Amino acid sequence: MAWSTLKLVALGALLAQDASAQTGSAKGSDFLRFGCSQLVVERTDPLVNPGIAPTPHMHQVVGGNSFNITMDPMTIDPPATSQCTSCKLSEDFSNYWTASIYFRSPENGTFKRVPQMANGRLNGTLLEQDGGLTIYYMRPFSGSNKKVTVMKPGFRMLTGDPALRSKAPGSLAICHRCLAKSERIMGGNGAPCDSGDTAQFPNKPCPGGIRATVIFPSCWDGKNLDSPDHKSHVAYQSGSALAGDKCPSTHPVRIPQVMYEIMYDTSSFADPAYYKNGKQPLVYSFGDTTGYGAHGDYLFGWKDGALQRAMDALGTNCWSETCPVLKLQSGEDAIKCTKAQQAKEDVGTTTWLKELPGGVTVQ
Ligand SMILES: *[C@@H]1O[C@H](CO)[C@@H](O)[C@H](O)[C@H]1NC(C)=O
Ligand SMILES: *[C@@H]1O[C@H](CO)[C@@H](O)[C@H](O)[C@H]1NC(C)=O
Ligand SMILES: *[C@@H]1O[C@H](CO)[C@@H](O)[C@H](O)[C@H]1NC(C)=O
Repeated sequence: MAWSTLKLVALGALLAQDASAQTGSAKGSDFLRFGCSQLVVERTDPLVNPGIAPTPHMHQVVGGNSFNITMDPMTIDPPATSQCTSCKLSEDFSNYWTASIYFRSPENGTFKRVPQMANGRLNGTLLEQDGGLTIYYMRPFSGSNKKVTVMKPGFRMLTGDPALRSKAPGSLAICHRCLAKSERIMGGNGAPCDSGDTAQFPNKPCPGGIRATVIFPSCWDGKNLDSPDHKSHVAYQSGSALAGDKCPSTHPVRIPQVMYEIMYDTSSFADPAYYKNGKQPLVYSFGDTTGYGAHGDYLFGWKDGALQRAMDALGTNCWSETCPVLKLQSGEDAIKCTKAQQAKEDVGTTTWLKELPGGVTVQ
């Protein structure tokens, strides 16, 4: 559709304006974007498998250190329970997590966790320590009404489906971008999940890394903080994963659009020999060699009113990590906020594992 193409072009242009925006001449500034260092890599999932450790597959988690095996909103209030956050915006104690990616050696079948790396667009502000995630909170990029209503305490959601092994219908909300060596720093050009990005894993070596993007729905039913499938209380605007200012009548409340960028350092796994005969060597921690099953989990935990203040203030003075109505902590302080594994095991960062953690079957 022409209008959604326009929207993508508009966002692409905004992201391309980063360099000028950083020098203070931004025109487009409809998002917060900030780095979050790794909190813990472990098999827990308080959204899908509360109370269980270890859970079926490996996750990489960032945000408030109140992250726990169980996060019942009746007993855990992230801003009150956390002592620190691994995110640069220090009033954000939310938790953000995704599945890890492993390299499976075509030579001997053992597995190594693909290291994460810093997002080049934020380099210099968050030091490179095990990557972490880059988080966006975006206002609508098209339409005239920019107002968004921030989610309520206890809100959580999931997008994507680990059981998927083929392309989901509709516009691309979760995707992979294969980076050339020269794109390692800035992550390439174009809007998130544009035509150069794929739902599946790239079918060629990515010497500059892979940037995975997860775009969450931006429309909420306004009532339920969660739903049995963790999805039905939220919806995408029809026609495009990236939000405009219209929401369906079933989900009328426009919330900030959450987006993750995860940078994977595939430079040591980019041997063209691994990519012969339609094969590729990467597998998600839940056993998916296609990449279609990529998904993201979100648990809201901002300090009272802080995110709404920022969303209302977005503009030339409040943009990306720099927003005067919010508190910013140093990259060093964000990196200091880590959590010991509760489900203790070797996640295969430095050693080769005989099988995927949890004995997950590769399929
Ligand atoms: C996890 O939650 C339990 C129950 O609320 C609490 O006792 C425990 O201290 C928490 N653990 C960590 C590591 O935060
Ligand atoms: C398995 O293969 C990888 C390279 O693909 C190599 O680095 C590793 O040492 C090998 N492990 C064993 C046990 O041979
Ligand atoms: C980040 O900056 C450091 C120091 O300038 C550099 O060595 C490193 O390669 C950069 N990393 C990325 C991903 O841009």
